[in-house]
Amino acid sequence: MQRLAVLKGVFCDMDAIHKQLLIGSAVAAGGILLHMVYKRGQVKSIPLGEGWWGAGKKPLSEDDQIYPFEVETSEEEIEDLHERIDRTRYTDPLEDSCFQYGFNSTYLKTVVSYWRHKFDWKKQVAVLNQYPHFKTKIEGLDVHYVHVRPPHRANQKVVPLMLVHGWPGSFYEFYKILPLLTENQDGLVFEVICPSIPGYGYSDAPHKQGFDSLAAARIFLTLMERLGFSQFYLQGGDWGSLITTNMAQMKPLCVKGLHLNMFMSRRGLKVMLSLMIGPYLPFLVGFSREDVRRLFPFLEKNVWNILRETGYFHIQATKPDTAGCGPNDSPVGLAAYILEKFSSWTDLSNTDLVDGGLERKFSLDDVLTNVMIYWTTDSIVSSMRFYKENLKSNPDNRVDAKIGIFVPTGLAAFPGELMHCPKSWAQIRYRNIYSYTFMPRGGHFAAFEEPQLLANDLVQFVKKVEKF
Ligand SMILES: *[C@@H]1O[C@H](CO)[C@@H](O)[C@H](O)[C@H]1NC(C)=O
Repeated sequence: MQRLAVLKGVFCDMDAIHKQLLIGSAVAAGGILLHMVYKRGQVKSIPLGEGWWGAGKKPLSEDDQIYPFEVETSEEEIEDLHERIDRTRYTDPLEDSCFQYGFNSTYLKTVVSYWRHKFDWKKQVAVLNQYPHFKTKIEGLDVHYVHVRPPHRANQKVVPLMLVHGWPGSFYEFYKILPLLTENQDGLVFEVICPSIPGYGYSDAPHKQGFDSLAAARIFLTLMERLGFSQFYLQGGDWGSLITTNMAQMKPLCVKGLHLNMFMSRRGLKVMLSLMIGPYLPFLVGFSREDVRRLFPFLEKNVWNILRETGYFHIQATKPDTAGCGPNDSPVGLAAYILEKFSSWTDLSNTDLVDGGLERKFSLDDVLTNVMIYWTTDSIVSSMRFYKENLKSNPDNRVDAKIGIFVPTGLAAFPGELMHCPKSWAQIRYRNIYSYTFMPRGGHFAAFEEPQLLANDLVQFVKKVEKF
């Protein structure tokens, strides 16, 4: 009280100009302080934007109902497939070439013979339909997804989770991990939504140019909102990794956690320096011994191997409609194009095996079901276009490259992944890494190859975030 009286006395003794100055600066300081507090509290995010991808003109209103969907097939579809398979022309492989020139056609004949005579599409359609499918219209496109609820039990925490696939995969990649995630893990269980990226499988393909990962992210956020989920977890690899990352950047308050099995961050001075110093003094640049083992020799592992394996990327990012004509018209062409990736992206050394090591990790039923999802929906061209749309402008200048990701993030680094990204690099973009795991085995198609390992890592991450 006394001090206040003294202050009041000083204030009264001041002349009018000084009083005004004092009040003015107090107001300004308060304003700046308030602004700083507001800025700190504000979560950085990228604008949602808008879009409409249907054919022709956008209607005034759109049906936002959710419809059950079932995968179907017919005798005509299967007959047409068999006729085309029977007319295939093959080219003999070069001597001793294994998979180095692409899919070895001698082995391809083995795969195709299985496809033609043993593979039972009707049975696989029943496998696909074992989980409930739905479709709903968003931004002019019918968006397809699988929705699996866990069995009801008392005292369990049900956590919503979206899993997003990539190319040349599909929602089917998750069929082995679904039962693991919807099964109670000490009181924690997931309710899982697996959508098809528009242009892939049973989701409509965009009719207009410009459908990139940001558009896919916005559509999937709308889907989660429509399903009534205000907060959820996301998991993805390949394009699914970029799409879920964009979702986390757009609505950070809705995304409780982001779990990725492919992630990149390889630009800037920090990365350059760590590449130069890393092999000699790894601890200085935050590399672990395992990082060094996976990254170096850098030119061999991360430049030449990448060049050898990414020709498809350049073609799809430039002339998808030309390159897609063949595989869209020939089932065997499509199978070779897709299954070559399931061979080499699982383990690069598979290219030195006569059969590409395809059946080491997968059954022919599984990989051919994925091929059939592309074949029966005519979606190889639209799936390839996604590369072009995402590389239309310099990726460094895209809005999502300029802002970090602040939601809790879990990273699973599989040893067979095409490019290794150390935690110290990932931290440049992902600012809130809760867990980073060097996975013991597995490659690019983590959920398809190692469902149990991926499920374990995802569960430990979510438990950490939930303080479970
Ligand atoms: C292609 O695959 C078959 C196995 O199906 C193998 O016997 C053959 O040696 C391979 N060809 C080449 C050129 O590697």
